[in-house]
Amino acid sequence: MDINSIKAQIDSEIGNINSPETLEELRVKYLGRKGFIPQLTGSIPNMPQGERAAFGQEVNALKNKITFLIDEKQKAITGKSTKLPLSSVDIGLPGISQELGHLHPITQVTNEICAIFSQMGFAIVEGPEVETEYNNFTGLNIPLEHPSRDVFDTFYLDAGKNENQESRIKDRLLLRSHTSPVQIRVMKSRKPPLAVVVPGRVYRPDAVDASHSFMFHQIEGFVVDENIKFSDLKGALEVFAKGVFGKNIKMRFRPHFFPFTEPSAEVDISCIICQGKGCSVCGQKGWLEILGSGMIHPRVFKNVGYQPGRYTGFAFGMGVERIAMLKYGIDDIRLFFENDLRFLKQF
Ligand code: DAH
Repeated sequence: MDINSIKAQIDSEIGNINSPETLEELRVKYLGRKGFIPQLTGSIPNMPQGERAAFGQEVNALKNKITFLIDEKQKAITGKSTKLPLSSVDIGLPGISQELGHLHPITQVTNEICAIFSQMGFAIVEGPEVETEYNNFTGLNIPLEHPSRDVFDTFYLDAGKNENQESRIKDRLLLRSHTSPVQIRVMKSRKPPLAVVVPGRVYRPDAVDASHSFMFHQIEGFVVDENIKFSDLKGALEVFAKGVFGKNIKMRFRPHFFPFTEPSAEVDISCIICQGKGCSVCGQKGWLEILGSGMIHPRVFKNVGYQPGRYTGFAFGMGVERIAMLKYGIDDIRLFFENDLRFLKQF
């Protein structure tokens, strides 16, 4: 049947209906699964492309008309509409609540640390996670034979290319293994005075366990100007450590070695669990290591083209997961990355 004959037919048939049963038969005949309307709709795919849209619209209009006629008839026969009366919607039912998320604990701790340095006048700068071998190592005075440059300790992106050593150290790309390369980027593009913190992701091919992850977060910081002293480093780090861990912690600087700082120091805080008496968290030592630091090596200044002897500066770098684990007493780094809401909701 074509559209026009269906139109004519429904108009004549609907007039003769006077019981709910015959109305239902009529509904099935036109709108039911095998009724006229679904038959028309089903024929659309076989029509020429250009006629489908117009035909579809006509069928739809006819379907709406038939639905309307049946509904009117239903009301006339029974006094009830086939549509749900308004009162059947229970407006007292509780709605479907939309849960609000919040920032990830690592983001929260990163923001907190950056805010403390921001208040001391540091700018927040980010750098790329795909970095050159030069910025990640060579520019930072890390020698070619340093173990961290091994392919087992750094993710190289184009290992195998550029076997020629000269172009290799200039061009090879890698996933940065620390945030320190942003020192090179910033020092090359800006002039002192500089006070910068750099939050971001870093990557190392470590086997995952309770304290290692192939991806984690660091915050690098550095200050460069004329006359920056080790005491400036101590002052800034003390404000940071007391801001994060509380006014009562003590700090100590242990001599250490980093290629890009001289002298270098690792920084410990008194154990926040046992207040320095010795417990399982601090391995009975009373101290917890929180970061590496030192005075920027003159060779780093030379590598970025600063006039020899003119500037001094300090730098430091910390792992955000480690700070967060100490601050909240978390004993497994994997918890940060498993997306388990039972864990995340606690922050
Ligand atoms: N880049 C070092 C690391 O990933 C951390 C570090 C140590 C950064 C000493 C510094 C520093 O800026 O002075 O282990």
